[in-house]
Amino acid sequence: MKIKINDKNIEAREGETILSAARREKIYIPTLCYMEKLLPIGSCRLCVVEVEGFDNPVAACKTPVTAEMKVSTDTPKLRDMRKEILGFMLMTHPLECDDCELKGVCTLELLAKEYGVTAPPAAISGNRPRTAEFSTPAIIYKPYRCVACGRCVSACQEVVGRGVLALRGEGINAAMEVVNEDRCISCGECLSVCPVAALADAGMEEIYKLDRS
Ligand code: SF4
Ligand code: SF4
Ligand code: FES
Repeated sequence: MKIKINDKNIEAREGETILSAARREKIYIPTLCYMEKLLPIGSCRLCVVEVEGFDNPVAACKTPVTAEMKVSTDTPKLRDMRKEILGFMLMTHPLECDDCELKGVCTLELLAKEYGVTAPPAAISGNRPRTAEFSTPAIIYKPYRCVACGRCVSACQEVVGRGVLALRGEGINAAMEVVNEDRCISCGECLSVCPVAALADAGMEEIYKLDRS
């Protein structure tokens, strides 16, 4: 079917999402919670796009294309929305990148830089309640970095079939929670998908600390 993204004519596939069509055409839409190997989560809302005829922007990673759809991916309204979202994320994940193993490749760090966001919105104060630290012999969970994207939850359920993790709360109160610790097999799948180094390999963490000492 024919659609338009940023005035470019595109041949989209039945059933695919706006994000999928855009990526095939090398049209950039920022994402954080989305991963190709997982079902779309739709939690971060950074992939918002405007669709002609729709009252509000929609998440490109979850919205299927329809014939003759006209999509805009980079408008002042979308940029403002993304800045606001990134600002909220920095409430729980301050940019303390110099002390992070993901420095230079972290999705949040790169998007914050791209959108010129360096701190939470000035009008907002206080911190989100934190979940207790979770660690197995293989994994350390760092709640002070978690942006509640849900990737680890989906990976544990969809890829490993263990259902150890869950998201609780909403908005800025959302956080990751361990709900079935006894089912964890320390496979490391969850830490491999975390975009912000909130889950770390316990073994590598020791090596990292030694390297820095
Ligand atoms: S280590 Fe594996 S089983 Fe344990 S929480 Fe992570 S993905 Fe689930
Ligand atoms: S621990 Fe990482 S992957 Fe899991 S919800 Fe938090 S930020 Fe997302
Ligand atoms: S990438 Fe679409 S909602 Fe997060």
